[in-house]
Amino acid sequence: MKTGRPGQRRTPFRRIALFTLLGIASACGGDAATDGSPSSAAANGTFARIQRDILDPSCVSCHRAGDASARQSQLVLTSDSAYQQLVGIASVQQIARSDGVARVKPFRADSSLLYHKLAWVPGHHSRDYGQLMPMGTTKGVTAGQLEYVRRWIEAGAPRSGHVVDTAVLADVRLQSASFTPLSAPTAAGLQLKVDSFAVSPGSERELFVYRRVGNASDLYVTRIQSRMRPGSHHLLLYTFDESRTAFPCNLRPTANVVRDIRNTDGSLNIVNMLPMACHVYFAGAMTQEFDYRFPPGVALRLPANTSLDFNVHYVNRAPIDLPGEAFANLYTADRAQVQTVARTLNLANTSFSLPPKQRTTVRTVFPMSVRTTVLGLTSHMHSMGERYEIRVRRANGTETTVYVNTDWEHPDFTNFDTPIVLQPGDALVSVVTWNNVTNRTIGFGLLSSDEMNIIFGYAY
Ligand code: HEC
Repeated sequence: MKTGRPGQRRTPFRRIALFTLLGIASACGGDAATDGSPSSAAANGTFARIQRDILDPSCVSCHRAGDASARQSQLVLTSDSAYQQLVGIASVQQIARSDGVARVKPFRADSSLLYHKLAWVPGHHSRDYGQLMPMGTTKGVTAGQLEYVRRWIEAGAPRSGHVVDTAVLADVRLQSASFTPLSAPTAAGLQLKVDSFAVSPGSERELFVYRRVGNASDLYVTRIQSRMRPGSHHLLLYTFDESRTAFPCNLRPTANVVRDIRNTDGSLNIVNMLPMACHVYFAGAMTQEFDYRFPPGVALRLPANTSLDFNVHYVNRAPIDLPGEAFANLYTADRAQVQTVARTLNLANTSFSLPPKQRTTVRTVFPMSVRTTVLGLTSHMHSMGERYEIRVRRANGTETTVYVNTDWEHPDFTNFDTPIVLQPGDALVSVVTWNNVTNRTIGFGLLSSDEMNIIFGYAY
């Protein structure tokens, strides 16, 4: 979980601008004669519909004066106070506050807690804003209601007036039900998947499934496409470092078996995690939909008899089981169509040491012995990693930063539209900063309490 990471903090200027806006919004909407009264003209407007269709039936059982939930959340949603307590009001939740997310921020659904709390499919946001609402039920608001609320906020969240077409309410599907599996490639290629599994309420599940591809000859992958059910932090495909033959890299996991990295009591399952020590990045996605195509004529080689370890990480903040599921399509081409064979870069520094209770920055130089064309880069560190920077160092000593990641759990894959050409003597340099908050010295290791320092990428 990335709780507590410095995220999308607003600048002071933004805050001032915002509150000026809010002032105007509430002044416009504040027709005292129609305030909150169900029998008034406002009762037909968009907010009145939200009150009647969502807040009254699904929320006020808890969010009403005197109820413990209302005390805890400091939020009363009965019609006499819902608007005043929602619009332009800061959240009581720490992380939301530090992100500048209000209960309802007019014109900004993405900065409105009401919207995030109603979205039971948390895949669209990665911040932990507490329970999803309505809490303690088995049924969230419909996709249509969520969209209605979103558009109301985007329209400025007025107290009265019709600002959203009620036709959007016709979509009565529960949000978590709207997932279409990815169909297998129709052209040459293959599909790998993680079959549907359940993530229990308020928990997270990170797991691996080892899949044998069973290819008799080398495969040339020209395109990688993936799709996962909402709620996942990432999807990763790994091959194994065949050059490492010592334990545990002499072993391979059992095929087609789900390996949870946590036991049911929350402790780490070391046996299931051991293969992580030998992984080589093959492909990854931080988004529900992902589609990467190699440049024309370029393909990534998968040697004969390949296997891939398929990894997903789901977080369920809804009060019911969430299904997890993931698909990856590898599109392949005949060797004859491939002019350039790409490979995965795997540049690791395994010999760093991070003293306790301090920040340490480690710089590692990986010189190129042959001309190397880099198509894209990503990085790998663990939870104490704060910043991973990759630079290109030319033989004359000049350095240019080409990649920066500050979110260890979700390292972006940076694709270079113009590939970076490294001549012999040039180098890739990693500059990694960790904050070791523990009392012990930390080095390279495969547990998430150890650290990693690896550049992965595609190159030829
Ligand atoms: C079973 C009780 C219950 C129900 C039903 C419920 N809530 Fe909540 N709500 C809570 C509790 C408890 C909290 C505080 C804990 C949290 O935020 O995770 C909360 C927090 C919130 C917050 C965050 C307030 C803040 O400032 O951080 C919002 C917004 C919210 N609820 C909206 C709703 C909406 C909208 C509904 C109906 C669709 C709803 N709630 C239904 C119990 C409930």
